[in-house]
Amino acid sequence: MSLLNVKADFPALTQKVNGHPLCYLDSAASSLKPQIVIDAITHHYTFDTANVHRGIHFLSAQGTAKFEASRTTLTKFINAKHEHEVIFTKGTTDSVNLVASSWSERYLKKGDMIIVSTMEHHSNIVPWQMAAIRHGAQVKEITVTDSGELDLGELENLLGSNAGKVKMVAITSMSNTLGTVNPIKEIIKKSHSAGAHVLIDAAQSAAHKKIDVQDLDCDFLVFSAHKMLGPTGVGILYGKEDLLNSMPPYQGGGAMIKKVTIKETTYNELPEKFEAGTPHIAGVIAFRTAIDYLEKVGLENIWQHEKELLEYATSEISKIEGVKVIGTSQNKGSVLSFTIEGAHPHDLAMILDELGIAIRTGHHCTSPLMDRFAVTATARASFGLYNDKNDVDRLISGIKKAKELL
Ligand code: ALA
Repeated sequence: MSLLNVKADFPALTQKVNGHPLCYLDSAASSLKPQIVIDAITHHYTFDTANVHRGIHFLSAQGTAKFEASRTTLTKFINAKHEHEVIFTKGTTDSVNLVASSWSERYLKKGDMIIVSTMEHHSNIVPWQMAAIRHGAQVKEITVTDSGELDLGELENLLGSNAGKVKMVAITSMSNTLGTVNPIKEIIKKSHSAGAHVLIDAAQSAAHKKIDVQDLDCDFLVFSAHKMLGPTGVGILYGKEDLLNSMPPYQGGGAMIKKVTIKETTYNELPEKFEAGTPHIAGVIAFRTAIDYLEKVGLENIWQHEKELLEYATSEISKIEGVKVIGTSQNKGSVLSFTIEGAHPHDLAMILDELGIAIRTGHHCTSPLMDRFAVTATARASFGLYNDKNDVDRLISGIKKAKELL
């Protein structure tokens, strides 16, 4: 499949916004959905509705088979060793909260440390702070350099000077604000040498870059379907089998039990132990369709295509006087954050919206990063496989027009 014709697969791109064809540059917030993903959801609710893992009637058995087929696809997609190491959740935030709650109960004690970085999304900071408060531990940070890269010397210092105390290193594989792609394999290796577990937040990279959890050797890895052409409200937690087995359940309810009496409960095996309640069945099934689509286009092709768009956009935007790109690492995914001298990002976004161009502005749920770069907000254009050079040209001419007005 060529990237030249993927645009036609995304019906949202056929509409006009404020009289202009939609130019969608907010894929880092949520990606558009191809028709086949929308069809998979519609088909499920139209014909296949039934609960999974519960009934013996045809629709329930069929639903269970389709649900588990998604787990098989996701297992292969990240090259996990076992299917039961893939837990379906509500999304990245839910997955991090699951680990921060359950893992901490088993592994975190008074005086311990958790390391995050300045570029983490709030969802990979706040759950750790909450766990640290509950267990008397501390959250420490690896800061970022002026170009928006992690200061790995700080990681070494923190690990070295707190021998045996650092229990978790929770790091993003790609910054949602800066676009920086982090050297996670190196971070995992260093952290493991110091005896720490590692959680990788792959929410931003999963739709763009191949993940191999066995090669990475990460302990946990999390991402959401909605940033990778799938539905909202569903994502995964990958965890190593022995770790997941050693952790207490996160939520109690149906499916996660083996036997319940009023006195006590015995818990189910993986993965059900962490999948209490009726899951987002249609979402999980459509997630597989999204992964199949991504793989058909090819992650390598997507990465190359978006890299070319990012390079073109960066070069064009840098020619505009007063524009400052925030996040200039050599190793970047398709995220372009910037500020314009004398103009508030929200005002810029409103003018671009009038032209049918969708970007995100604000702190991007990365307030510590805003403080680091001494800004209150940035404007952010982020590219997906369905964007092309014309979208970049519209962004650039939109910014020029906005500059005249502001
Ligand atoms: N994490 C999403 C973003 O960066 C919502 O926009």
